[in-house]
Amino acid sequence: GVMREISGLDKMEQKLKQLLNVNEVIIVAGNSDQSSWVKSELGKAGAARMKKEWKAKNIIAVTGGSTMAEVAKMLTPDSNGKDILFVPARGGLGEEIQNQANVIVAKMAEKTNAAYKVLYLLDQVSDEAYQSFMKEPMIKDVISLIKSATIVLHGIGDAMVMSERRKTPSEIIKTLEQKEAVGEAFGYYFDEDGEVVHKVQTIGIQLEDLDQAKRVIAVAGGESKAKAIRAYMKRAPQTTVLITDEAAAQQLIKG
Ligand code: G3H
Repeated sequence: GVMREISGLDKMEQKLKQLLNVNEVIIVAGNSDQSSWVKSELGKAGAARMKKEWKAKNIIAVTGGSTMAEVAKMLTPDSNGKDILFVPARGGLGEEIQNQANVIVAKMAEKTNAAYKVLYLLDQVSDEAYQSFMKEPMIKDVISLIKSATIVLHGIGDAMVMSERRKTPSEIIKTLEQKEAVGEAFGYYFDEDGEVVHKVQTIGIQLEDLDQAKRVIAVAGGESKAKAIRAYMKRAPQTTVLITDEAAAQQLIKG
């Protein structure tokens, strides 16, 4: 639109696409570090972009986080009554309840009159308990649904912010510091070259699963996330749609 051209967001989108080597970037005005309405705009843009991907039948895997919670808030039902199932992308990562993928998928389903499934998993379990959990038919079912997701929607976090928020054990925080982790997505932690320096062991979507067959949509904004976004995008599939805000974009372009 005219406003976007005047404000230069269109140009920034083109620049970021080249810089990050992805096919699509969407930028909303403002800085979500500073104003909650910008985060809502990110949520709105995430919801709208995801809805554009909806086909007759959809399985949508979603991660946790406050940005995903904003997307959930902004969702509306599809007028054509599509077949939609929301599932959490991965098992628990140690988040507080409001940031958990299970809670977010339930909210997304409620907002769109769609279906959802959750993963009943404890965050920290012994290997033995984990192995027997994995044999539960209910869990197996959800895992196979997750693996056949047609859309993956996820957030990107600052590594240190995320590891602290998730009450990560101090020895792991030390490793993250030593290996200079800057970004986080799906419970994977990345250094500035996009190398995985740590991953939370849990079931569901693994980084290798983000293949070309799926539409991956990443939503993350705020100046403070620029480093994290740059790091993760080195690893992200080229087909990823990145939705971010002006402040993060400016920082990314500055380099
Ligand atoms: O899983 C969490 C995300 O990577 C980032 O969380 O949206 O609350 O910043 P956030």
